[in-house]
Amino acid sequence: MYDFRIEAGDTATLYRDLTSALEGLVAGEPDAIANMANAAALIFETLPDVNWVGFYRNVGGELVLGPFQGRPACIRIPFGQGVCGAAAATRQVQRVDDIHAFPGHIACDAASNSELVVPIVRDGELVVVLDIDSPKKARFTPEDEAGCLKLADILARVL
Ligand code: SME
Repeated sequence: MYDFRIEAGDTATLYRDLTSALEGLVAGEPDAIANMANAAALIFETLPDVNWVGFYRNVGGELVLGPFQGRPACIRIPFGQGVCGAAAATRQVQRVDDIHAFPGHIACDAASNSELVVPIVRDGELVVVLDIDSPKKARFTPEDEAGCLKLADILARVL
């Protein structure tokens, strides 16, 4: 049984604990689906004020839904469309304070108001994007972005 209960008082400690928990969860496991599933569950359980955490995989130049926690979501997203598609096309983190103001945003859960999408690249190829949604406007800070980039570094090795 895994019992990662992370209750850090500050964001830096939260991401430090989350990073080491993720490292432990994926250590020695080569199966990408298992690793994405556990990563989504761990992040969803740990971060406050999130309503969707999951992955979209690069399948032949199109984003296709992968393991996630939250409400059922749209399955296919073309590169360049919405927040996830922008992250895939530009390979830049998308940290969006108000997704309703984002051109082409794809609404999967009406409760979502802000979003952080981190592209995960290995050997020059986009492998997946990690998508985190929150019902709170401007939920994600530069500290969240830096923390999630560390999570992405770990995942890049095991996806
Ligand atoms: N809102 C996303 C779509 C994915 S869902 O949030 C799970 C977007 O515009 O890319």
